[in-house]
Amino acid sequence: MCGIIGYSGSRNARTVVLDGLKTLEYRGYDSAGAAFSAEDITVFKTGGRVSDLEKITPNIVAHAGIGHTRWATHGAPSAKNAHPHLSFDGRFAVVHNGVITNCDELKLSLIRRGIRFVSDTDSEIIAHLLSLEYDGDMVSTIDKVSSLLRGATTFIALKKGDERVYMHRNGASLVVGKGDGECIVASDALAITPYTSDVAVLCDGETAIMNATDVKFFKNGKQLDKPFGKTDRTAPKDCSCHMRAEIDEIPSALLNAYAEISRSITPAVSDMVRNAKRTIFFGCGTAYHAGLYGKIIFERVGVPSNAVIASEIDDERFIDENCLCVFITQSGETADTLIALAECKARGARTLAITNVKESTVTFEADETVFIGAGAEIAVAATKSYVCQLLALYMLSQERTEKRMGKSEIQALANAAKVVSKENLYAPEYKDFNPFFIGKGIDNVTAKEGALKFKEITCKFADAYGAGELKHGSIALIDEKSVAYVVSTNEHDEERVRATVRELQSRGAYVFAVTNSNRLGANKTLMLPKIYDENLYPVLSVIPLQNLALTASLCLGLDPDKPRNLAKSVTVI
Ligand code: G6P
Repeated sequence: MCGIIGYSGSRNARTVVLDGLKTLEYRGYDSAGAAFSAEDITVFKTGGRVSDLEKITPNIVAHAGIGHTRWATHGAPSAKNAHPHLSFDGRFAVVHNGVITNCDELKLSLIRRGIRFVSDTDSEIIAHLLSLEYDGDMVSTIDKVSSLLRGATTFIALKKGDERVYMHRNGASLVVGKGDGECIVASDALAITPYTSDVAVLCDGETAIMNATDVKFFKNGKQLDKPFGKTDRTAPKDCSCHMRAEIDEIPSALLNAYAEISRSITPAVSDMVRNAKRTIFFGCGTAYHAGLYGKIIFERVGVPSNAVIASEIDDERFIDENCLCVFITQSGETADTLIALAECKARGARTLAITNVKESTVTFEADETVFIGAGAEIAVAATKSYVCQLLALYMLSQERTEKRMGKSEIQALANAAKVVSKENLYAPEYKDFNPFFIGKGIDNVTAKEGALKFKEITCKFADAYGAGELKHGSIALIDEKSVAYVVSTNEHDEERVRATVRELQSRGAYVFAVTNSNRLGANKTLMLPKIYDENLYPVLSVIPLQNLALTASLCLGLDPDKPRNLAKSVTVI
C-alpha cells in the first residue's frame, strides 16, 4: 500500500514530488507528506490528501525531495503518523511502503536505547536505525538496517546536507527513471513518465543511490549493472472522475487488449495452457472474480479447474507440477497474490501471470506473463481492467481448442460494449432499497462483481446470490424494500432464473434484468446485444452494473475514485 516518490535533479523538487504524489494517490489517500533537502531537511505533513499537502507546503527551492501518500496500517491517519519520518537527530528522513512485522521488538530495543518515538507507526523505526547504524557508507548502512527489518520494507530516504536520494526495495515496488539532469524514483512508473520513459525496476534486496545525473544499484554490498529500458506506461489525462472515463474507455480498451494479449500468448504460454492437467486461478477482489470466470470457461474446454482467493491458498491442497497456476492482478503488486505465487512455485506448479502493469513484481516472479493492455487504471474500483482480464482468460482458453478469436469478432464485441456502456440500471426511486445481485453459473460471477462494485464505492451493503440458491435461506431478506439486479445470459439456465424472478416479485421485490432473453418477466429489462459466443457475455453484462454503482456513489455525494478505507494496490497482508 502507499505511494512513495523521490527526486534529485535540476527542477524544483517540490513540484515533482507533489505532482507525483497526485498520480500515486490511488495507492492510498488517508494522509500525505513530503520532505526536501537543501542545507536542512524540511518536512511537511497533513492528515488530509495531497491537495491539502500542497496548501501547507511553501514555495521552497530544493533539488532533492521525497514524498508519501498513505494507507494506514500502524497508527491512525493523522499528520503525526504521516510520512516522512525523521530520525531522532534529524539526520535522515524516510518514506516507507509496507509493514515491518518485527516492529514491536525493534521499537522496544530502540526505546531501551533512549529513542523517543513521535508517531505510532512502524515506519519511524527505519529513520532511527539509519542514524544509529550510519557508518559513513550508505550502502553498508542500508544493508545493515534492512537485515534488521522483517516484512515488507521498501523505503526511500534523504540524508541531511545531501542532494542524493537513497532507496531500498523489499516487498513493494520501486521503479527508477533517468532523465536529462534528473532522476526520479516512485512506486509506479506513472509518476515518472511525465519526465522520462527510461526506467529500471528494482528487485527485492536491491539498494540504489541516485543524484541528478546517475543511479547506482547495489545488492549485498556489490554494485550491479542494471539496464534501463523504455516504459509505455503513461498517466491518463486529468479528469473529474476516472471511473467514468475508464468505463467509457472499455470499447477501446478491449481492442488494445486483444492486440496486447495476442502478442503475449507466445508459444511458451500456449504450451503451458495446452499441457495443463489442471488450472487454478488466484486473485483478490475483482481479480478473484475474473478467476471464477476463468474456472468456468477452462472447464468448458475440458480442463479441471478451480478459483481460489489468493489469501486462502493454505486450504488449496492439490497444487503440484501438473498444475498451471494463474495469478490475476491488475497492479501486479497485490501482496496476497504474490505470496500465493511463491507458494505455488515452491510446490512445483507452472505459473502464469495476467496483469496490466509491465514493470510490476508479478512479471518478475511468474514463469510467463500475459499483459492485458487496458491502459492505466486510476479509479480504485476496477472496471476496464476486469473486462480485459476476462478477455485474456477467454483467449487463453481458446489455446485448448482449434478456434481463435479474430479481428472481426473483437471489433463486434467492442461495438457491443459501446452500446452497453450507455446503459445504466440506476433509478432514483430505488435508491433506498436493499440491493440483491443475482445470477446463475457464469452470470453469478457477474452478480458477485456487481455487488462488490456497489459495496466498494457506495459504502452500502450489497451481496450476490445464486438464482437457484436464493430460496434456500437468503429469500428471508426479500420484501417490498428490495431491488434485485438479475443477470441472465445463458439459455440453459433461463427457466430457473425465470422462476427466481417470480419468487422475488411475489415477495414484493422490484426486478431489473440484464439479459439476452426477453422472457424473464422482470419489471424492467436491459437487453444485451447478441454476440457470437455466449462465453463472452460476462464482458458485456458487468458494464451496466459498473454504471449502476458509479451513479449510486455520485448521487450519494461520494468520490467513487477514492472509496472509504480502500486503496487500489494492496501491498500488505
Ligand atoms: C484491492 C482493490 C480491489 C482490487 C484488488 C486486487 O483490494 O481495492 O479493487 O480488485 O485489490 O487488485 P489487483 O491489483 O491484484 O488486481
